[in-house]
Amino acid sequence: MHVDPQALDWRPHPRVSWDVLLGPRDLRRALELDVRHGLGRRPRELPPKYFYDAHGSRLFEQITRLPEYYPTRREREILEARAVEIARRSDADTLVELGSGTSDKTRLLLRALSAAGTLRRFVPFDVDAVTLRGSALRIASEFHSLSVHAVVGDFERHVPLLPRGGRRLIAFLGGTIGNLSPRPRARFLEDIAGQLGPADAFLLGTDLVKDIPRLEAAYNDAQGVTAEFNKNVLSVLNTELNADFDLDQFEHVARYDPRQGWIEMLLRSTVRQTIVVRDLDLRVEFGEGELMRTEISAKFTPSQIDRELEAAGMRTEARWTDRAGDFALTLAVCGTEHGG
Ligand code: SAH
Ligand code: AVI
Repeated sequence: MHVDPQALDWRPHPRVSWDVLLGPRDLRRALELDVRHGLGRRPRELPPKYFYDAHGSRLFEQITRLPEYYPTRREREILEARAVEIARRSDADTLVELGSGTSDKTRLLLRALSAAGTLRRFVPFDVDAVTLRGSALRIASEFHSLSVHAVVGDFERHVPLLPRGGRRLIAFLGGTIGNLSPRPRARFLEDIAGQLGPADAFLLGTDLVKDIPRLEAAYNDAQGVTAEFNKNVLSVLNTELNADFDLDQFEHVARYDPRQGWIEMLLRSTVRQTIVVRDLDLRVEFGEGELMRTEISAKFTPSQIDRELEAAGMRTEARWTDRAGDFALTLAVCGTEHGG
């Protein structure tokens, strides 16, 4: 995002097509509204989707390789062990991936579905058009008979517009669902349930509740990559909205809130300061030590996952965890146990 997706060179590849559900004007309007709302209230807050310009996506990729950040490795371990079973159970000809990023782990699912002989189409969906374009082209060149239909969109708004048809496996990996707070998460799951036909399935990756020091270490890495990722949202506002945040005057904070069951990432203003957001004609006062929330990352228990899926009109069909029990993949289908 933060570029005009139409202006990107989506160099025609015979098997790659795309939809832009979030055009530049739309994106700009959403950013303006979110920033006005988030900086205009107390406590101040910014939505995590604005971390992901091309630089933020690269930083996230670095995070996935950090020794402290276990979720990516654990989810990969599960996929390595279970992709064949997931492919068999879903029998999908279309893999849709929400928040697809580089679609790295997704290759395990693509390979298993290819080997099963069912796979025809891959639909990566992401708000970051630059990363999406790169991964769509790479996957098309790696999987020779696959049609790739990339979608630039916001999964909080555009799930009802996902391409239909065939037997779809809709994957939402990485624990990204944890970045939605409870009400938007419930709405998101209802949108998914509204998409699922009887032949479709939903594959959901969730990080699990565990001891606090490990959780907090995963978001406070020794190399400071997560801190840079967190502060990147300020760079995005500087670039996109002509704001004048000085990144050195904010500190990265990440802590687990056991009552809510989530990691909160925040930025702490180290001094009293006034930020000017020129394009919004906005002046924002930060007190010394004032915190601004930039992300939550909710951690789940298996029964909570089942309850939330059921509340949205889905039912858990299978669940797998890694050997350490750190992360879960849940396969769900439409309808409740009571025949909904
Ligand atoms: N699925 C990958 C990437 C996770 S990072 C993995 O498991 O490693 C989160 C991804 O979601 C990023 O690529 C980011 O650009 C995308 N994203 C974040 N908020 C989004 C939103 N509201 N709509 C669509 N994509 C979003
Ligand atoms: C994308 N998402 C699941 C990551 C997470 O763990 O919540 C984003 C992230 N934030 C800090 N580190 C990684």
